Amino acid sequence: MLSRFEAIEGEAIGQIAAAKTLEELETVRLRYLSRKGELQQLLRKVGQLPVEHRPRVGEVANRVREAVQSAFDARRRELEAAEQMRILESEKIDVTMPGRIWRIGSLHPITQTINEICAIFTDLGFEVVEGPEVETEWHNFIALNMPPEHPARDEHDSFYITDQLLLRTETSAVQIMVMESRQPPIRIVSPGRVYRRDEVDRTHSHTFHQVEGLLVDEDVTFADLKGTLMTFARRFFGEDVKVRFRPHHFPFTEPSAEVDVSCLMCNGAGCPVCKHRGWVEVLGCGMVHPNVLRNVGYDIERWQGYAFGMGVERLAMLRYGIDDIRLFFENDLRFLRQFV
Ligand code: FA5
Ligand code: MG
Repeated sequence: MLSRFEAIEGEAIGQIAAAKTLEELETVRLRYLSRKGELQQLLRKVGQLPVEHRPRVGEVANRVREAVQSAFDARRRELEAAEQMRILESEKIDVTMPGRIWRIGSLHPITQTINEICAIFTDLGFEVVEGPEVETEWHNFIALNMPPEHPARDEHDSFYITDQLLLRTETSAVQIMVMESRQPPIRIVSPGRVYRRDEVDRTHSHTFHQVEGLLVDEDVTFADLKGTLMTFARRFFGEDVKVRFRPHHFPFTEPSAEVDVSCLMCNGAGCPVCKHRGWVEVLGCGMVHPNVLRNVGYDIERWQGYAFGMGVERLAMLRYGIDDIRLFFENDLRFLRQFV
């Protein structure tokens, strides 16, 4: 029996040392230390030995049980500590790691430009009014002195929704909407998106933005228009900007002009943005045509006005040195983040 105790001691302590996990250790405990385990079974038999052998065997039995128990306790503490470390490792947070940047959105450069244009005109006493992108043929063409047979409608003819409804081709449609709903004096600017069947290239897009301006009052002259636009150009581009008024034709103004700004990309030397002309067209303008004033029921003996419509993308391109209009519409964050 003594040798059996010693054999069990050796086996049990060997297996305890070999246990690599708490589960393996538990298997060893069940095998030797539990009530039905080998050691307990053997201990129970000590009581059945002849009296003279009991003290000696009992002593060995107790020593073996304590040795196995303490080997087990020590190994359990080791394995529990290792398990704790493993959990801590897996949950480790490196507090020195840089945080994730929370990206806040920002206004699109076109929106920023529109806000800036409107702020300049608000300073000059204009009110900001917005109109719908889906317009009637009346607002977009007929009332603007372009009846159905007018040739100007060919180049404009656009994205129709029904025979009488279309995506507006110019913000000038807002002029009619405003004049039909109020009496002079009128001083408004109207920013917004417009749509045309234009071929897309560096300076043209099928969808772009304009800011319309309209002033109707008594004794309004072309000099007022010129002064207002020159003031705007100097505020927007700086005092040194060169501006020229070039005679042009629009059905809804008479006389009419287009305004060019010296190309700020090449300083007038010629480049792809100005198509090697040294100037970039940024807006159309003129004195409101008497037919337009009549169409909205104004007394043309008393009221005159001027109007203009500027291309927002063109202004932004010149201002920021952008050489391709398509960059505004591609949603490339590397481009957009330059305007935060
Ligand atoms: C007009 O749209 C007139 N409604 C302007 C006007 C208003 C004249 C009031 C008289 C009175 P135009 O088609 O030239 O005119 O366009 C005006 C400006 O919009 C141009 O100078 C240009 O800066 C811009 N533009 C025109 N077409 C495009 C396009 N496809 N892509 C980007 N910008 C454009
Ligand atoms: Mg034009």
